[in-house]
Amino acid sequence: MKTVIHHLVEVTSTNDEARRMAEAGAPEGTVVWADHQSEGRGRHGRAWFSSPGEDVLLSVVLRPRALPDRLGIVTMMGAVAVAESILAASGLESRIKWPNDVLIGGRKVSGMLLESAQDGRLGTPPRFVVLGIGINVNQRSFPPDLEHTSTSLVIESGRRVSRHDLVGVVTSLLEAWYGSFMQDSGLSVRSRYLELLDGLGKPATLHVQGAAGSVQGRLVGVAEGGAVELELSDGRRELFYAGDVTTQPSGA
Ligand code: BTN
Repeated sequence: MKTVIHHLVEVTSTNDEARRMAEAGAPEGTVVWADHQSEGRGRHGRAWFSSPGEDVLLSVVLRPRALPDRLGIVTMMGAVAVAESILAASGLESRIKWPNDVLIGGRKVSGMLLESAQDGRLGTPPRFVVLGIGINVNQRSFPPDLEHTSTSLVIESGRRVSRHDLVGVVTSLLEAWYGSFMQDSGLSVRSRYLELLDGLGKPATLHVQGAAGSVQGRLVGVAEGGAVELELSDGRRELFYAGDVTTQPSGA
């Protein structure tokens, strides 16, 4: 897969634009990069906040031959590519919070949103998927509801990072990791993801949106399709496909 970048000034959401291009036949590797989104969105229907012209907002069209229950690997690949590109472009170490947040010092610096176009037939790969990536790069402040949980590369490193360079590194790492995914069905992506995963082996709490209560356990792994594996207090291991996992911060 070779990426081709389309740089736009403002869109509603790069995921919308990439989806529109994919529906019109755009090839795998088509990347929509925008300076600003008027309706950027995150997981669970939340809005995605960014400062115009300061952050990286991009979406890539992919046509993986993977069944819907295996698509988690595509977001895992995105998180790995982002964590590695942050290191390359800014020297900052980051960690992945399952399923697909990238954190620096426990605060969120990047998130991904995977949307897929299914044709409704059971057991068939999607027609295409759109992997949307948001990275907080040069924004220096956040709205009150995010200020204690979010961060950016400039806040963490004390210097501005070129968005252009970062987009170049992210897209070439996506090419490399997507190639590896096609060769070994995601084995290497998964093992790199586990190296970068925050809280592996530690006590964890899983909150599922809309569900009453939460699940307590120990974070012991991530399955091939991206489900998180928790060891419960009775020693049983269970896989969870949705939710947010919180682990105790390092040293706690
Ligand atoms: C999340 O962590 O909740 C996912 C955030 C995904 C944000 C990116 S920004 C580029 C792309 N376009 C969107 O509207 N969302 C994704």
